[in-house]
Amino acid sequence: MRRVGVLISGRGSNLQALIDAAATPDYPAQLVVVIANRADAGGLERASKAGIPTVVVPHRAFPTREAFDAALDAELRRHSCDLVCLAGFMRLLTPGFVEGWHNRLINIHPSLLPAFKGTDGPGDALAAGVRIAGCTVHLVRAEMDSGPILVQAAVPVLPGDDRTRLAQRILAAEHQAYPLALRLLASGAVRVEGDQLVFANPDDQARTALLLQLPLPSQG
Ligand code: GRF
Repeated sequence: MRRVGVLISGRGSNLQALIDAAATPDYPAQLVVVIANRADAGGLERASKAGIPTVVVPHRAFPTREAFDAALDAELRRHSCDLVCLAGFMRLLTPGFVEGWHNRLINIHPSLLPAFKGTDGPGDALAAGVRIAGCTVHLVRAEMDSGPILVQAAVPVLPGDDRTRLAQRILAAEHQAYPLALRLLASGAVRVEGDQLVFANPDDQARTALLLQLPLPSQG
C-alpha cells in the first residue's frame, strides 16, 4: 500500500475522485495527508469528511519559494508519503522540490499535453478550435506541464460549447483519469526508465488512453 499526500489549492474535485477510489477494495494507495496553501481551499473539508489529516501551509508566510517548498516537503515526509499528487495546486514548485520527488510526483492538467500548457487549457482549446480536448495525468518534471504521460482522456468539443461547458466535460474526464493513473503507479504496473514509461502488461498500457465519447445531440 503506497502512502500518498495530495496538494490542493481549491475545491478539490479531483481530490474527491482520489478519495472515492482509495475507498474501493484493492486500491493500492492510501491518502495519508492533504496539504493546502490556502486555508479556504474547499478540498480541506472533503479530506476531513473522509478522515484524512489536513495541513495548511500558507505560501505567503514564507519569504521564498524555496522556503515554502521546504515546508511542504517536511509535511510530506512527516507523513511518510511515498507519492505526491498535485490536484489543482496553483503554485509553481521549485526544481529542488521536483527533484526530491522525482518519479513520485504526479500532476493533472486540463488539456491533451503537450498542447495548451498553462492556466486555461479548456479556454485555449476552444479558442484554437480543436475538435477533441481532454486531460493529462503526468509525472512532474521541472518544466511546467511536462513529464512522462501516465494517462490521457479525450472528450469531444461539442457544438455550442462555451468555456464552462467544455471545462466541465474535461473535469469529468479528469475524475476518471486521475484515479487510474495513481492506481497504475502505486501498484507498480508501470515503472519509469529515464523519461519513458514501461508497462509490465500491455493491457494496462491500453487502458491509459480513455476515449470518452458523449452521445451526439439528437439528429431530429
Ligand atoms: C483541474 O482542472 C486540474 O486539471 C487543474 O486544476 C483543476 C483543479 O480542480 N490542475 P479541482 O480542485 O480538482 O476541482
